[in-house]
Amino acid sequence: MKFGIVGAGAIAQLRKKAVEAAQEAEFGGVLDIDHEKAKVLAGSARVFSSLDEIINSPDLDAIIVSTPPDTHEEIAVAALRAGKHVLVEKPMANSIKACRQMLEAARESGTVLTTGFNHRYFPAVKALKEAVETGAIGQLSYVRGFTGHTGLSEFNSTWMYSKDVMGGGALFDNGIHMIDLIHHIMGPISSVYGKSASDIWALDRVEENAFAILSGANGAIGSLHASWTEWKGYHFYIEAYGSKGMARAFYAPMQSMIITMDKPGGRPTKKVNYYLPLIVREKLKGWQSTAIRTLTDEISDFIRLAGAASPLGPIATADDGYRAIEIANAVYSSTESECATPLEGAV
Ligand SMILES: NC(=O)c1ccc[n+]([C@@H]2O[C@H](COP(=O)([O-])OP(=O)(O)OC[C@H]3O[C@@H](n4cnc5c(N)ncnc54)[C@H](O)[C@@H]3O)[C@@H](O)[C@H]2O)c1
Repeated sequence: MKFGIVGAGAIAQLRKKAVEAAQEAEFGGVLDIDHEKAKVLAGSARVFSSLDEIINSPDLDAIIVSTPPDTHEEIAVAALRAGKHVLVEKPMANSIKACRQMLEAARESGTVLTTGFNHRYFPAVKALKEAVETGAIGQLSYVRGFTGHTGLSEFNSTWMYSKDVMGGGALFDNGIHMIDLIHHIMGPISSVYGKSASDIWALDRVEENAFAILSGANGAIGSLHASWTEWKGYHFYIEAYGSKGMARAFYAPMQSMIITMDKPGGRPTKKVNYYLPLIVREKLKGWQSTAIRTLTDEISDFIRLAGAASPLGPIATADDGYRAIEIANAVYSSTESECATPLEGAV
């Protein structure tokens, strides 16, 4: 499958490497409004000069949308209507309405649309998911997730904290990954109670901290904190608690822990995985080496999905992307109303 990339920024650098590393994937060229950036990323591949040109290129089968979120709808809808499969970076878009348009375009064209939630592919997260799915920790009761970084000192462009471009603050940035992970582990969410705050960075209409309680349709409860004032530096963790144990995924450094018991409060057996080869690789080649591996696995699943085969890993669909945006917006509604926000059913 031949991929074109729209956007030649930070994530596109890693996407290109992932496409080159994935079996049956080929890198077919780049479009960026900054032509020079596109030329550098393209290398010996083609540089496209307009959206029309890249989406209508008969040479390409799929488009990766690696631009700021306010452009995702226009680019993805045009590419889907031109018959291309599309992988769009997180957050899927900056509004529920935009996500709906994208879902509709994918339905009409019959092509594949997925959302770039590569944290699902982190080995520690996969270990946690397996512990829940196999029943190793018993009946799932609650899931707790945290994601944080130091906020504005992390960003290299102002659009990254613009409401109009991103659609929100911490919840649409690092938080959207955590919303997706909680949804991925817990299953459908039926309502959201939340509170968001922005007193330290005092940004225009975007929150720097958000807290939420998520009610699972199957009875489990989720709690979430997304932060741009995590002065300890970037990290995230997600923990799942069941009747007979718990599982935890942490990054960075990558680490997972599983505690199992024969009954609630019984004698615990604890297994910790420190992922030493991965940590050594990150010391030598940076965190990007882990990101590229997860993006490569995601591309492989995308190709399988587009070929009507079952994905081997946990690729996030467009519905998953939509659901995460719906949950983030429900936190904002709940902050305003001081009541829980019920979520709609399937779209
Ligand atoms: N999966 C992850 O963990 C992850 C990590 C980083 C970024 N992202 C997401 O990837 C997307 C891009 O982020 P980034 O950090 O690479 O941003 P970036 O600013 O480094 O790059 C964005 C690029 O898009 C180009 N661009 C803007 N509008 C365009 C348009 N209409 N057509 C063509 N090119 C256009 C810009 O010139 C720029 O080169 C965002 O949605 C971001 O949230 C995901």
